[in-house]
Amino acid sequence: PSPLEYKNNNLYFDGKRLDAIAAKKRTPFYLYSKKTLRHYYEHFSKAAVKNNLPSPLVCYALKANSNKDVLAQLKKMGSGADVVSVGELKKALKAGIDPQKIVFSGVAKTAEEIRFALKCGKKGIYSFNVESIEELQLINEIAKKEKRIARVAFRLNPQVSAKTHKHISTGNKTHKFGLLKADIVEALEAREFWTNTTLVGLSIHIGSQLTEMKATVKAIEEISKLALSIDVALEFLDLGGGLGIDYTAEEKSKLTSIDTYMKTVADALEKYYYSKTDHCPRVVFEPGRIIVGKMGVLVSRVVRTKVSDSNHFTIIDAGMNDLIRPALYEAYHEVLPAQASKKLIKTDIVGPICETSDCFGSKRKLPALSAGDLVVIDNAGAYGQTMASSYNEREIATEYFV
Ligand code: LLP
Repeated sequence: PSPLEYKNNNLYFDGKRLDAIAAKKRTPFYLYSKKTLRHYYEHFSKAAVKNNLPSPLVCYALKANSNKDVLAQLKKMGSGADVVSVGELKKALKAGIDPQKIVFSGVAKTAEEIRFALKCGKKGIYSFNVESIEELQLINEIAKKEKRIARVAFRLNPQVSAKTHKHISTGNKTHKFGLLKADIVEALEAREFWTNTTLVGLSIHIGSQLTEMKATVKAIEEISKLALSIDVALEFLDLGGGLGIDYTAEEKSKLTSIDTYMKTVADALEKYYYSKTDHCPRVVFEPGRIIVGKMGVLVSRVVRTKVSDSNHFTIIDAGMNDLIRPALYEAYHEVLPAQASKKLIKTDIVGPICETSDCFGSKRKLPALSAGDLVVIDNAGAYGQTMASSYNEREIATEYFV
């Protein structure tokens, strides 16, 4: 569900009129709905339980949105965290998330980051999701110096092609992510890597904004085969994140729902793994977008409009520095006026940045707006503010909750 709704042609967010919410705020700003956030987290975590997955752990991927109130709310509901930098790790810890619910992904963990993660809390983090042999070696070295045992999981590169934008597909052999099966098997035999590390899991993450499940099922088959072939009693299988959301009404019907996703995952695990063994490790998930995507919008005001020959431009005060997804992935975000009208024109909604890609939508059907009118850019809760920059010396947009 979306927090947005039109009543008598006025746009409401979580039951409050948008123009009233925006009245005293500087635009552009991000606006989040706690209610929607709770809905998605609960739906996701309950679906895992409903499908009888053994002690599922949701490690929310902070990169999607690391706002401190978002994290506080998720912590309250029991969420763990998937982090990819010491900055994210510190934010998760500050929100009170138990280190034993934190997994650390990413190909470039530095010695400093590894040391910090190893030493936080009593026992360090739940798992380093290792992406290379070199990284494993370094973790072992640091753990030895610190007289600790590091908990590690191998991220398998399952060699599948996830159907999504090429910039956010991550499970193929040519991608920098994960380790090939043969390399994992070889590393397991190299005893010098394991004096101060212990293998507790295996992980996969094949891409983001996934709408169909074929590649995911294939990847689960691959990780299951690997898990069954090695002589280690794993504590968990980390299935990553990636479940997509509907950015358009048309997408909604084609999308995999949370329930279907969980059922598909549970069935695949049963078929390829649990039915073949007595030892069933728990499942870890790293969802980002599905938890926070739909809870947020970017609120902006029209600066002016402009006509060049047959082209009409609605120029707004939000730009690609606030929300880069359309410019970077040609992502579609709905643009909605605060006041609806039946009379529509075709217009390009563009921002203030000096780049042609600073465009939120071309030839969109919108009412003829004028300076000061409010619009929202929908579904901006995930990968919005976290990817914002101060390009063109612009301020980073403030985030508010209703
Ligand atoms: N786990 C790992 C290891 C990841 O790399 C990612 C996302 C996630 C979990 C969370 O994936 P999600 O559930 O959010 O799909 N900026 C892009 C998306 C990049 C995703 C990067 N990795 C966008 O705006 O579409």
